Amino acid sequence: MSREKTIYVCQSCGASYPKWSGRCSQCGEWNSLVEERVRKGSSTGTTGKEASFTRLDRIDTLAEFHIPTGLDEFDRVLGGGIVPGSTVLLGGDPGIGKSTLLLQAAGRLAEGGHAVLYVSGEESSEQIRNRADRLGVVSDKINVATTTDLHEITSIINSEYHSFVIIDSIQTLRSNDFDSSPGTITQIRECVAHLQNVCEARSMGLMLIGHITKEGSIAGPKVLEHMVDVVLYFEGEKNYLYRILRANKNRFGSTSEIGIFTIGSTGLETVSNPSELFLSERSSGVSGQVIVCSVEGARPILFELQALVAESSYGVPQRVSSGFDQKRLSLLLAILEKKEQFRLSSRDVFVNLAGGLRIDEPAIDLGVVCAIVSSLEESPVRDDTVIVGEVGLGGEVRSVSRVEARITEAMNLGFRRIIIPERGTSRISNKSGIEIIRVSALSDAFSLAFK
Ligand code: TYD
Ligand code: MG
Repeated sequence: MSREKTIYVCQSCGASYPKWSGRCSQCGEWNSLVEERVRKGSSTGTTGKEASFTRLDRIDTLAEFHIPTGLDEFDRVLGGGIVPGSTVLLGGDPGIGKSTLLLQAAGRLAEGGHAVLYVSGEESSEQIRNRADRLGVVSDKINVATTTDLHEITSIINSEYHSFVIIDSIQTLRSNDFDSSPGTITQIRECVAHLQNVCEARSMGLMLIGHITKEGSIAGPKVLEHMVDVVLYFEGEKNYLYRILRANKNRFGSTSEIGIFTIGSTGLETVSNPSELFLSERSSGVSGQVIVCSVEGARPILFELQALVAESSYGVPQRVSSGFDQKRLSLLLAILEKKEQFRLSSRDVFVNLAGGLRIDEPAIDLGVVCAIVSSLEESPVRDDTVIVGEVGLGGEVRSVSRVEARITEAMNLGFRRIIIPERGTSRISNKSGIEIIRVSALSDAFSLAFK
């Protein structure tokens, strides 16, 4: 009897079925089932181990410790470093700098005395050596293997101890136990599960690179994200010289920290003062331009926001925002129209965060609104002023978190005034270098923000 069977696996959610059908009944996706041949008993069935349980109070606590990579911004997002035996998945568009980031991290780890295995299924060893030369990370503690075969990789991992194993990329891995081609859900799931077992047993940190699919998630999306401990995304616009690292999931730390890097000929450089970077191209005295402050994780960051309001030449006015939630923009426009009597319904409105940033924080609402009014009235906002506050449906300015941190950041960058919500800030004392202006209604903010 043949030991192989055919199953149909949904490429979207990973559900498997014995028969093909046009639609996955698990996630509802159409035409997502792909035929795969698997060996019987390879992925399911009994493990042969005896089942057991332990009383909660008798379980030892785990001393979780992070090994810092030495790349500050990378460590910040990881929550301090990599936990031995854990798996980190790094996703991003092709060409964004994933291989560069992990090779630099490997270099730093090697400097710290850790042995690192770099497995590449994408590039030749000479290419990797060239890149390492360029990045200045050539070390006798980094070993390179160029293979895509899971069993070969496993025997390399088992033959010598490395503190960290880097796989570039999971889409190239292939296990002979499965007929399906590399990059399919079955291959990715089985290969990652196998590598995790091998690395966890020896307390090796596993770092996986994954490409993003057209839909914007790592191939084998949810399936893979559930399996690993940390999911990071490396983002950036091709036209800008910096990259942002975000955590989407982190079992050992916060997901609100972001890491910021600039790119250069010798690799990625960590940015310790992001506000300076994002304000560097600022011009003064231009209407529609506002400086706002967003708190990312523990860190306040100042950046520039621009709005353009123009007479609409088509029937339906356009509302376009980049870096700021489109629905939120519609809401703010409705508030301006209804509560403050600004005529915006026949005008196009564009809002843009400088440098291709993306911010979800409501604390920049007031800045967005001031930028729109500034452009509409062609009246520049004072360029020594930072604007902070959430806007409520009634046109009131609502409190935001971490106001003091935002004030300090504005002071550090030489701003002389900051507009903040009146609500929730009565305990904040006056500072010597900066004028703190409290507002509770939108109209007050407008009269104080403009020249
Ligand atoms: P790479 O790390 O290969 O991207 P990915 O692994 O995500 O596909 O980087 C893409 C290209 O950009 C590569 O040719 C090197 C170049 N690059 C630099 O020159 N400097 C940098 O700081 C980075 C990140 C990339
Ligand atoms: Mg690469």
